[in-house]
Amino acid sequence: MQQTLGMDQPSAAEEFWSQDSQVEAFSKNSDVLLYESDLIAEAIAAASTTGEVKEVHAVGVGTGRELPAVRALLPEAKISAWDVSEPMVQACSAFVQDQGLTNISVGQADIVDLSSHGTNADLVVLLNAILCYVNTPQDRRRALLALHGLLRSGGTIAVVVHQPNSRPDWAMWFGFRSLLCRLSLAEGSSGDRRISHGDSTMLFHHFRPTELRRLLTESGFEHIRIRSLRTWSRETGHRIPWRSPNPLMVTAVRSQR
Ligand SMILES: C[S@@+](CC[C@H](N)C(=O)[O-])C[C@H]1O[C@@H](n2cnc3c(N)ncnc32)[C@H](O)[C@@H]1O
Repeated sequence: MQQTLGMDQPSAAEEFWSQDSQVEAFSKNSDVLLYESDLIAEAIAAASTTGEVKEVHAVGVGTGRELPAVRALLPEAKISAWDVSEPMVQACSAFVQDQGLTNISVGQADIVDLSSHGTNADLVVLLNAILCYVNTPQDRRRALLALHGLLRSGGTIAVVVHQPNSRPDWAMWFGFRSLLCRLSLAEGSSGDRRISHGDSTMLFHHFRPTELRRLLTESGFEHIRIRSLRTWSRETGHRIPWRSPNPLMVTAVRSQR
């Protein structure tokens, strides 16, 4: 994926992610990284303090890369995997079958519409910047309310998103964009940038930690933990590449509300 200055009309997530070359690229399904499995394990531990973790949703699952790791951490759980792109859903179903993974359903859904798919989940996993592909502030709010609606009280989320100030080159770019937004010379949120793949472009939102915390709190989450991958690296002693996009790792608990 590349950043682009092109002015063509951004695509919707479903169209962007249904391109053959996207599905092909993701079909390699490399293993999850250590920080990702650590994050899921932390969210499981937090949910386990209020009940057994038996029901899990994996949202924006693509071709299913995270499913073997979720299954390894929770051998007995019922897993529902969702993606907005039908070709991704098909590739994910094939992957689940090839891997012999059981008790996993795969379906097509947009994150903002997920609340009709149950209310009793113990854990929801969104790896690899899924929330960043949700394009408007209103839809980001709807998405978090939908995740809240899926969970039992005490259920948790494990989320990875990108931030604007994670790397010096991005911090400079977003600083300039922020200024243009303040002067009403650029449209959209100051955290938005365009990404391109094949013939499509779409908006991709980088979350400031304060913005994300506020959104989560307003959507009924508590015990919110947000830290960067660099902080995780310092805490655990595991090195990360110096060019890492240094995403935010997030866990939060659905409150009683
Ligand atoms: C970067 S891929 C990540 C796939 C997988 N989670 C992984 O880590 O390999 C992003 C996925 O999110 C899905 N996606 C994007 N917007 C979505 C939305 N609004 N609702 C559900 N899925 C969405 C895309 O179709 C794509 O498969």
